[in-house]
Amino acid sequence: MPFITFEGIDGSGKSSLAKLLAKELEKRGYKVQQTQEPGGTALGLELRQLLLRTSGEPPCPEAELLIYEADRAQHVNTKIKPLLKNNFWVLSDRFYHSSLAFQGAGRDLKIQDVMWLNQFAAGGLSPDLVVLVDCPVDVSFARRAGRVADRFEKEKREFHEKVRNQYLKLAKDESDIFLILESEKKSLDSLLKELIDELNKRGLL
Ligand code: TYD
Repeated sequence: MPFITFEGIDGSGKSSLAKLLAKELEKRGYKVQQTQEPGGTALGLELRQLLLRTSGEPPCPEAELLIYEADRAQHVNTKIKPLLKNNFWVLSDRFYHSSLAFQGAGRDLKIQDVMWLNQFAAGGLSPDLVVLVDCPVDVSFARRAGRVADRFEKEKREFHEKVRNQYLKLAKDESDIFLILESEKKSLDSLLKELIDELNKRGLL
């Protein structure tokens, strides 16, 4: 069954779109499981606290990457792979492209290091489709206004610009598996329609 991941800067609209796709697939009679990184498992939820909290000792960039990879290894082995075997569509709000964008570009870690750790943690699993929900950083900041900011959301505009540019570069380099959806001026329903069209085009539906 297909494994679809949703990526983008915080406030891009990816989580809402993933939810909408899950509903639509269920309506069509498919078995669907929505999940997330970090925090797709019980252990992962504990790691998520460590990663996103704004109090306590923050991890250095290397430790931060390793915690995301630990979350991912647990997620892939105990949840995603078993679900795919049981004929579920798996929709994950973030997966390893987030590490390439946030830790690779955002934290300036070597992309090669992030790549091999991604491979190790994902154990050979890669998404059938990566949906990059893209919008300008200003738009995402405006959408997030009023929410309590986590450790990443407290980062400066420049950090989020680097993350966004890296996502756009990844989408270019891996154009065979990426779908870019521009969310600035479109309704969620029209984004869902574009996504369903793409799934049809790829023979996934
Ligand atoms: P997310 O749950 O998408 O946050 P929100 O619900 O606020 O949109 O992701 C949490 C944060 O973790 C997000 O800022 C991106 C970051 N992140 C990384 O830095 N690296 C990773 O590998 C992953 C999966 C997430």
